[in-house]
Amino acid sequence: VLVVPEEQAAHLAADAVTAALQRAVAERGRAVLGIATGGSPLRLYRALGERVRAGEVDASLLQGFLLDEYVGLPAGHAESYREVVRRDLQVHVPLADHAVLGPDPHTGDHAAAALAYEEAIAAAGGVDVQVLGIGGNGHLAFNEPGSPFDSRTRLVELAPRTREDNARYFGGDVSAVPVAALTQGLATIAAARELVLVASGAAKAQALAAALEGPVDVACPASLLQLHPRATVVLDPAAASLL
Ligand code: GLP
Repeated sequence: VLVVPEEQAAHLAADAVTAALQRAVAERGRAVLGIATGGSPLRLYRALGERVRAGEVDASLLQGFLLDEYVGLPAGHAESYREVVRRDLQVHVPLADHAVLGPDPHTGDHAAAALAYEEAIAAAGGVDVQVLGIGGNGHLAFNEPGSPFDSRTRLVELAPRTREDNARYFGGDVSAVPVAALTQGLATIAAARELVLVASGAAKAQALAAALEGPVDVACPASLLQLHPRATVVLDPAAASLL
């Protein structure tokens, strides 16, 4: 766990992500990046873009997998995570569109789409480094409290707190936030070879204290970080204030 001012946090997290991607490229000639959405990783993605421009990572060797995707938005909706990733990540780190995959919410068969997504991740050789944020209720991706640690990609219902938290991306209108999503499961996330979680602000302090110092329990999905052999957590002082 690293606690540094927010401006530095993105660079430290980018160090960890870059090193993991470089290791994978050295070993296998390519690397797989696990992509989180939300406000938390924005500076990290910008910092990662600087590393790519500096030649530290070759974006053409990267493949990206989203953590989750809303169900119920029309294809191409500005707040669908596939579109968010275009704006927030691909603008900085020029991953080709075909090299970025998320769970497909438009197939009409969510169970089959979830399985296909697990298979796509496996076919890519698994995720080398997974970027993570944390929900105010301790969720990871859209694994809400109570999600089993052995869960895989599946259809989930969003917690009321999550919909309220995310209403800011839908013009403040909670009723516009989808009620369901396809999300990687906790076991899917834990299978990444390395995890890098970034968080800032006092609103995340309680969830982080529970995740990092509380019991490993499904009441706080992010407590799975305690079980992972290579997990880096980069926090600003406000987010770390209850540790
Ligand atoms: C969202 C996403 C998560 C994200 C979290 C925090 O609902 N599904 O992957 O980590 O909530 O979001 P933010 O970083 O905007 O606070």
